[in-house]
Amino acid sequence: MTQATETVIPFFRTGNYAPVPDELTDFDLPVEGSIPPELNGWYLRNGPNPRQATQHWFTGDGMIHGVRLENGRAAWYRNRWVRTESFEHPFPLYNPDGTRNLHASAANTHIVSHAGKTLALIESSLPYEITNDLETVGAYDFGGKLVDSMTAHPKICPTTGEMHFFGYGSLTSPYVTYHRADASGELVINAPIDVKAHTMMHDFALTAEHVIFMDLPVVFNLDVALRSESDMPYRWDDSYGARLGVLRRADPYGPIRWFDIEPCYVFHVANAYYKGNSIVLQVVRYPELWRDSGGFGVDAVMWRWTIDLERGTVTEEQLDDRSVEFPRIDDRLAGLPARYAVSVGSGSLVHYDLDRGIAEEHRFGIDVNPSTPGEAVFAPADSGADELAGWYMAYVYDPVRDGSDLVIIDASDFEGKPVARVELPRRVPHGFHGNWITD
Ligand SMILES: [Fe+2]
Repeated sequence: MTQATETVIPFFRTGNYAPVPDELTDFDLPVEGSIPPELNGWYLRNGPNPRQATQHWFTGDGMIHGVRLENGRAAWYRNRWVRTESFEHPFPLYNPDGTRNLHASAANTHIVSHAGKTLALIESSLPYEITNDLETVGAYDFGGKLVDSMTAHPKICPTTGEMHFFGYGSLTSPYVTYHRADASGELVINAPIDVKAHTMMHDFALTAEHVIFMDLPVVFNLDVALRSESDMPYRWDDSYGARLGVLRRADPYGPIRWFDIEPCYVFHVANAYYKGNSIVLQVVRYPELWRDSGGFGVDAVMWRWTIDLERGTVTEEQLDDRSVEFPRIDDRLAGLPARYAVSVGSGSLVHYDLDRGIAEEHRFGIDVNPSTPGEAVFAPADSGADELAGWYMAYVYDPVRDGSDLVIIDASDFEGKPVARVELPRRVPHGFHGNWITD
């Protein structure tokens, strides 16, 4: 008898996926344990918090939940919708002539900080600049130079300080354009990338030498697009194939080398690096996605692609059998051979030792109703390179008290008791991505 109810109410309107009704501000939050005094900055995390029912989890209005940490105290919590132009006065992503309106934005996917600007991102629009106390400044187009949407997953090279990203979503070729901002935030590269169609390209990969694009078989579907503005207009296409495209950073307008792989879908790349004339990508891979609907019935696991640039081959390997999502690394090693990655598992965070091929889990309760974490980000203790000298932080939802904490876990004692739990004044709905932004 509950079948009909389950069919009509999608998961993203129930439990801790459901939106919260309003915006709160609270100061000097209660803490269990001790917040490391080295942590001075803002933990900001984005996610959908629709004001009205949407057809897809990915399309709700973006809301940012932030905690300010300062000298061992949790100075404040705030949650704010991103006040984009289409939040205030809704208008569609596409104009009647098929061109895009890049100011139409739910701004619900990620937050990055680069060259002194904090940007709320969604892949279908321009970034929206926000302040670190979550006021919306406005759409940001790199001084008029960006005439494209911006992926929610830019990569900041730790060596050069450049921000690499791409845009896609045009209904005409080029379907993808690669962009690069230098360390000062100046947009310096806009290079068209040759893919066959408008595919859903959520993420990409960076090494010290290359950028790598994933041209995968989840393709724009006009029927779905016409049916609803608030659904995701993409479906699996058996005829499309799947390939990885390698572009040399030193020759951004040069040729792309494409490598066929087994059809699959990847939302998120944990990391990539270049070693011995091979490129290694560590990704969370779905064997298939969105064949008949935009739902999430299939599990994804950690996977490794090794592109041998000399032989022209790709080796594909499953690294683990746990179902995970939202992989992150110590971002100071983005594009370099990071040893560790952390992902969200089932009622747990999974910490992979990628060198040894093993993982440990931090479980949030062992009973039938465990707490559930969101994406974890790494906050280093100091300027050293040690990936274990620092903390992971994540919002964790406790269904028993219907509340959330900011949980801080010592990276060198991952399975141990969290060093601190900051009790938040309300639950934080499951969302997408965030970052730790230091002072
Ligand atoms: Fe994402």
